[in-house]
Parts: sequence; C-alpha cells; structure tokens
Amino acid sequence: MATDPSASIALRVNGKDVEGSAEARTLLVDFLRDTLRLTGTHIGCDTSQCGACVVHLDGVAVKSCTVLAVQAAGREVRTIEGLADADGSLHPMQEAFRQHHGLQCGFCTPGMVMTAIELAQSAEPLTPERVREGLEGNICRCTGYHNIVQAVLAGAAAMRQ
Ligand code: FES
Ligand code: FES
Repeated sequence: MATDPSASIALRVNGKDVEGSAEARTLLVDFLRDTLRLTGTHIGCDTSQCGACVVHLDGVAVKSCTVLAVQAAGREVRTIEGLADADGSLHPMQEAFRQHHGLQCGFCTPGMVMTAIELAQSAEPLTPERVREGLEGNICRCTGYHNIVQAVLAGAAAMRQ
C-alpha cells in the first residue's frame, strides 16, 4: 500500500511561528505531541469523547483529536503550555484549579482548563449549572467534578478582574 506523503505545515503555536511535517491523515493532537513535543495536550480516548486533547484553534476550544494537523496550517493554536507567563506565573484558571483542588491525577486537567477558559470568556454569566453543561465534553475519572466546577467559577471570576 502506498504511504501517505508528508507535507510541511506552518502555524503559530503559543505565540511562536512553527513548522513541521505532517501527513494528510496526521491528527493535530499527534502533531502537537509528537512533532512539536508539546505533551501537555493529552490523548485519553480514541472516540472524541474525553476532552483531554482540547486546545484553542483561533481562540475556539476544539478537541485536537478531531482536527487534522493540515487544517491548522496558517492558524493560531494555544495549548496548556502557552497559558503561564514567561516568569512561570500561572494563568488565573490554572491557579484556580490549584487553589480549589480541581485535579487529582491531572490527566484531564489540560483539556478541562482550556475548555474552562473558553467558557469563562463567554458573555453569559457562569453558574454552576452552565459550568457543568459546558464541561460535558470533558471527562474526569477522579474528582467527581465538584471541585472542578468550583475552580472554573473562581477562575472565571479571576479572569474578569
Ligand atoms: S483524546 Fe480527544 S476527545 Fe479524547
Ligand atoms: S483528575 Fe484524574 S482524570 Fe481528572
């Protein structure tokens, strides 16, 4: 069987211009992890259900296992590695997850945080119900969600300040 030829793609990731080679079938999550070595974006399923792979593509939260790397060419991607300041200070949403014990094993956390930031940026005020609804596509096997919801509410409030 013929192999899928690779092409070089250029995009902006976490504020930097990057280039790498991807086959037409390469998923964005694999490109981020294997080519760019940004392993903070996790793979928790192969069925587009868990949300561990959520990144922002042109400011919109997407499951990067449902996007081809070539579809991100010329676009802006933000991953969990792009949230903290250069001096290491955490993004308010990351800080809120830390403060409110919104994680246990942490496997789901990068995707949760990326989804939570998008939720926090929406015009509608956040309620616990809206947070639970907004996190429907992010599965956590450890926490029972209560602390995650508290963290998202606190992180959203901190982002508004
Ligand atoms: S790895 Fe993308 S949704 Fe699970
Ligand atoms: S903290 Fe373990 S999967 Fe969410």
